[in-house]
Amino acid sequence: MPSLSGKVATPDGVAENNKEFQLELFPECRKPAKKAYFITFEGGEGTGKSTQIKLLSEYLHSMQINNIQTKEPGGTEIGQELRRLLVTGDKDKFDAVAEALLYYADRRIHLTTKVWPALNEGNWVLSDRFADSTVAYQYYGYGKRVSRELLDDLYKIAVGDFKPDLTIVLDLDPKIGLERSLKKSLSMAVKETRHESRALEFHNNLRKGYLEMAKLEPERFVVLNADKNIEQLHIDIVQTIKERFKL
Ligand code: TMP
Repeated sequence: MPSLSGKVATPDGVAENNKEFQLELFPECRKPAKKAYFITFEGGEGTGKSTQIKLLSEYLHSMQINNIQTKEPGGTEIGQELRRLLVTGDKDKFDAVAEALLYYADRRIHLTTKVWPALNEGNWVLSDRFADSTVAYQYYGYGKRVSRELLDDLYKIAVGDFKPDLTIVLDLDPKIGLERSLKKSLSMAVKETRHESRALEFHNNLRKGYLEMAKLEPERFVVLNADKNIEQLHIDIVQTIKERFKL
């Protein structure tokens, strides 16, 4: 059978890792008409990702760069149902393997119905979390009790060779982040605090995990100190984007 693998036109240098796709597995990933980047935001609880994504989206629009804001879990309609299962209720209702499978179901739906179509239409995609969250939470958070190979296999099955062009980790002491996050949840009708209710050790582990991942893949990750005011952090993010994408 002839190989159906194909190349996706990508901007010089930056998106090297997105060049190859198996088209029979990922028919949605066709040649994008224009440059478009997939930027993911990562970090522990209460690091300010959603606020910063909103500000970055506005900045990019002001530069005439079409973009969408999205998130995991819950970036699609079905994903919102999965999100409710994943982030509410008793912290021990799933084990880490079941959690990883559900996060990957959400991710696959998110990629095929939203992320890839948007990129292929030339829109930049800004995602509040992606697969690094699964490694941070389900692997490092739980003290590496889940096999890393299992998570890597799930990545290959659901995502293939596709990767973010840039991953910004907002790094913050979990004590500060958890306090912020729990304060915010007081005004929420549905309490999305399933992971917040885990021990501080879990949050310290996942923070270390992000820093370790960033060290191993410096060409994709940028770690920013999130213990700053909103405007200052936004300036740091814009600076990072300008440097990475030569804006
Ligand atoms: P957030 O969008 O408000 O950060 O909430 C999502 C929660 O889900 C957060 O506690 C991190 C967690 N999560 C995982 O544990 N694994 C994953 O793969 C993803 C995407 C999120």
